[in-house]
Amino acid sequence: MYRRTILCFRGQDTLNAFQRGMCCLMRRYVSVRSEHDIKNFIRDNTEIVSAQSLTPEISLRLFTPTCRFWTERPESWPFPDPYWAIYWPGGQALARYLLNNPEVSGGRKVLDLGCGCGASAIAAKLTGASRVVANDIDPIAAVATKMNCELNNLDPLPCVTDNIIGSKPDDWDLILLGDMFYDEDLADHLHKWLQTCITTHGTQVLIGDPGRAQFEGHDIRKLLHKLSRFELPDSVKDENYGLTNSTVWCYNYKPDL
Ligand SMILES: C[S@@+](CC[C@H](N)C(=O)[O-])C[C@H]1O[C@@H](n2cnc3c(N)ncnc32)[C@H](O)[C@@H]1O
Repeated sequence: MYRRTILCFRGQDTLNAFQRGMCCLMRRYVSVRSEHDIKNFIRDNTEIVSAQSLTPEISLRLFTPTCRFWTERPESWPFPDPYWAIYWPGGQALARYLLNNPEVSGGRKVLDLGCGCGASAIAAKLTGASRVVANDIDPIAAVATKMNCELNNLDPLPCVTDNIIGSKPDDWDLILLGDMFYDEDLADHLHKWLQTCITTHGTQVLIGDPGRAQFEGHDIRKLLHKLSRFELPDSVKDENYGLTNSTVWCYNYKPDL
């Protein structure tokens, strides 16, 4: 199960039309389960982890080898692929960067797009952001993010599950993107929308990425400057097939160039 999630993420198992249809059906299935049931499911099938990441001060409910679905057949998993049950290296670097530099998010309106487990949103809130919204198209990620807020003694953050890429942008001071450049179409749409956010509202955009091929080869890469690079903990290196570092980038978009 865990391996399948990693493979999907690495672009070796991109969704075809049938699979996308199945995801739609699953999303409908998810919507008829109560939040209470989903919370119980997450509680029963994850473990609370606080060490073994770049941000040991943040506790998260994640998949670990002690969880049933770590080894179970993926067909028996009742929801879309659980990206929210993994703390991705890009999100780890982003959250670490905010915790090390609280002035970056302090007092600002922050959007964590593709929040997954919600760690970057949590880091923004812990460092004094005035407003934080988490966004993920997976409704289970929204529930997991709220549960992870509670684990870290925060009130649950608002979590939006609409696909807001391409929509009229709100006036965010800061948009956080942890490990969001794993699919070329998504990266293209995201890139275009980020340019709109920046030109409309002067939004600052920070991207965390461990050097994935889809990111390194994308046009956006030429418009970024490096803010910080972190060596990944050994366990994260092991889980991510040889990735060793994760970098935080700032977007330098200049519309008149
Ligand atoms: C690889 S995970 C990264 C999660 C988290 N940012 C981290 O670094 O741990 C990518 C996340 O993006 C979400 N996602 C994919 N497409 C999206 C979209 N169009 N809008 C919002 N979230 C999206 C997925 O559901 C998944 O939770």
